[in-house]
Amino acid sequence: MTHASPTTPEGQALYLQLKAKLHDVVPDVELRYKAEIAAEINRLKIERNAVILGHNYMEPALYHSVPDFTGDSLELSRIAARTDKDVIVFCGVRFMAETAKILNPSKRVLIPALPAGCSLAASITADDVRDLKRRFPGVPVVTYVNTYADVKAETDVCCTSSNAAAVVGSFGTGPVIFLPDEYLGKNVARETGRRLILPEPGQTAADAGDLTNTLIGWRGRCEVHEQFSVADIEAARRQFPDVMVLAHPECSPEVVAAADYAGSTTAMIREVERSPAPRFLMLTECSMADNVVAAHPEKEMLRLCSVRCPHMNQISLEATRDALLHDQYPVDVPEAIRGPAARAVERMIAIGPTGKKD
Ligand code: 13P
Ligand code: SF4
Repeated sequence: MTHASPTTPEGQALYLQLKAKLHDVVPDVELRYKAEIAAEINRLKIERNAVILGHNYMEPALYHSVPDFTGDSLELSRIAARTDKDVIVFCGVRFMAETAKILNPSKRVLIPALPAGCSLAASITADDVRDLKRRFPGVPVVTYVNTYADVKAETDVCCTSSNAAAVVGSFGTGPVIFLPDEYLGKNVARETGRRLILPEPGQTAADAGDLTNTLIGWRGRCEVHEQFSVADIEAARRQFPDVMVLAHPECSPEVVAAADYAGSTTAMIREVERSPAPRFLMLTECSMADNVVAAHPEKEMLRLCSVRCPHMNQISLEATRDALLHDQYPVDVPEAIRGPAARAVERMIAIGPTGKKD
């Protein structure tokens, strides 16, 4: 990292803008360096007629400088589907960039870092889904959007954390195969008054008995959210009795029950904005708390930053600049997979975050 000040007028202007927002969050020496890269990205973005989408987990200097849109998985999918730009740079993880390509295949979709995966997406294959469908014939498949395109192609409807309960609810009291997040499945089961079973290998519908109001789940976990514990919440409450605790629904059902609020990344941000609580603890990737503090300096955020998403953290300003500069790394989905995957994702978008059809 160079310690030099921004050298271009655009870099200097962006530095002052970022400093106004991030002076309590990012050290000045780093801001000066990052502002110049962000200014270069904004120039390249115009040159390439690109749109930059930034997930809520992006680090603060990136989040507050280059994205045209920020949001949770569902919000960014909706924007990707309707952009008329030539290039979509997805500052998020691979399954999100793939979803953008599935929805808007004529666009060039770039992910700034190839290793930006996701433990949930890696937990299940298309063969696993086909096997479950053989064992539970006729049962609709709902798949969390944190999966790869070939898994989505085996799916009836995708969902995100902001509409999982609504998507499951749209199937009435019938059984639903819900993949691949065990904890999200358990949290949705509780919210919708269902039970969740985790079938053993080879177990079939006949072995499982009455499947009314049943979710058939999978043992996938988010490597970040599975680490938060009830003991963390209790310790935070002992030290700060007036803290409001918010948890992402990828946390265990015990953690969600012990928290004051659970919701998608954007839903958590909105709740902090709405709440008069004196301080907050968000059990999720800790960059998000930095981004909230930058936008709302009056809010006091506690952070558990030893738990980080190693995949989201691959996406830096440098990698985003190089993506536009060197046209890397394009995300492609074969048409035979894209078509069926698009149907599942479009149904998810139609259901929307509140469960009401648009
Ligand atoms: P959201 O859909 O809530 O943005 O979550 C995505 C994610 O990967 C959370 O870990
Ligand atoms: Fe995947 Fe968890 Fe990282 Fe989200 S936080 S991208 S679910 S590993």
